[in-house]
Amino acid sequence: MSNSLMHWLLLPTRLSLWTLSLVYYIVVYGTAGLTACLVLIRIAWTGLKDPYGTFQWTVRKKPPACLQDPELGDHAFLKGRSSGLRFHYVTKGDHKKPLMLFLHGFPENWYSWRHQLLEFSGDFHTVALDLRGCGASDAPVRLEDYLLEALLYDIRDTVDQLGHTSCILVGHDWGGMLAWHFALERPDMVQLLIVMNAPHPASWLDAVLRRPSQLLRSGHACFFQLPLLPEFVLSLEDFKLVRSLFCGKNVGIRNRSRRLTESQLEGYLYPLSQPGGLTAPLNYFRSLLSNTLYKHQDVAVPCMLIWGEADNILVEGMSGGTRPYVRGPVTIHTIPECSHWVQQDQPEIVNKLIWDFVLDKDVIKHYR
Ligand SMILES: *[C@@H]1O[C@H](CO)[C@@H](O)[C@H](O)[C@H]1NC(C)=O
Repeated sequence: MSNSLMHWLLLPTRLSLWTLSLVYYIVVYGTAGLTACLVLIRIAWTGLKDPYGTFQWTVRKKPPACLQDPELGDHAFLKGRSSGLRFHYVTKGDHKKPLMLFLHGFPENWYSWRHQLLEFSGDFHTVALDLRGCGASDAPVRLEDYLLEALLYDIRDTVDQLGHTSCILVGHDWGGMLAWHFALERPDMVQLLIVMNAPHPASWLDAVLRRPSQLLRSGHACFFQLPLLPEFVLSLEDFKLVRSLFCGKNVGIRNRSRRLTESQLEGYLYPLSQPGGLTAPLNYFRSLLSNTLYKHQDVAVPCMLIWGEADNILVEGMSGGTRPYVRGPVTIHTIPECSHWVQQDQPEIVNKLIWDFVLDKDVIKHYR
C-alpha cells in the first residue's frame, strides 16, 4: 500500500485520538483550575481568621520512634542499577524465602505495610520499599525523573538487587498502579500480583469516560498537576490536609481501633515535612497523569484485587460494580466499610485474603 494512502486511512484514527486527548487535557486542567480557585478562597478565609496558624508548618528534626521500631524489620539501602539512586527499604524474614515486595501509595512510605511485614515474614522475604522520592529514598528533583518507565526500572532493579528473579508484588494506590504496569511489562518477574485500591491502568480511563463525575471526584489528582501551589496548600496549618487524608471523617481510616495515633501520623509527616518532601510524591501525579499510558492489556499473572469499598478518595462508591476497574482474569474481594487505606484499616482481613491467595496458588509449597 502506498504511503499516502496509508496516511489518509489512518487520519480518522489519528484525529479521534487527538480529540480524545484534547478533551482529556481540557477536563483535567479545567478541574485543576476550578479546584485551585476553591482552595484559594478557602485559604484566604482561614488565613484572615488565623494568619499565624494557617501559614505555619514545622520541618520535623528527627524521625519518630515508630519509623525505627526494630520489631518491624531491618532498615537497609540498595542502589538502583539503572538510576544510581539509593533506595531505602525495611525487610523482615529470611532472604532465601520467596520475595514479597510491597509498594506504598501517596503520601505514604514503607510504614504503611507494618502489619504485613509482621504477618508474612515467617514464610517470605518481606521487603517494604520506599519508592523513589518518598520516605528515606533518594528524591531526584526533575519531573522527568518520575516517568513511568524509570519507576518500573526501579522495581526491576530492586528485585535484582535483593537477589531474586521474581516476586510476589503487592501494591496500594500509586504503588498498586506501578504494580499493574510492572506485571504487564514483566510478567516473568511477577509470580503473583496483589493490588489494593488501584484500578487497572486501562480501566481507569474507561471509568472516567463512562462516568465523567469520576474525574471531578479526582479533583485532587487534577489539582496536583499545577506547580508549587499543591505543595503550599498541603503544608498549611502544619500539614492539616495530609492529616485529614489519613484521619478525616470522610476519607480517613474507618476502623476506630486502627486510627493512626499522633506518633504514627508523624511517621508520614516526618519525610513529607522535609524541604522538598512533598514535591517528589506529587510528581507521581504530575508525571503519571500527563503521561497517560493506558494499556488495554490483560495481566498475564495470577492477580487479586482487594478493594476497600468506602474509599472516598478514588471512586464514588462501587455501585458500578468492580468490573470496570479490572481487565483479565482477576480475583476481586471488596471489603465493606473499609477506607482507601485498606491494609492499615483492615489488616486482619487483608492478611487473610493474601494468605488464602498465596496458598491457593501454591507459591510457597516447594520451599517448605
Ligand atoms: C477494627 O479492627 C479491629 C482490630 O484490628 C478488628 O478486630 C475489628 O473487627 C475491626 N472493626 C471493624 C468495625 O471493622
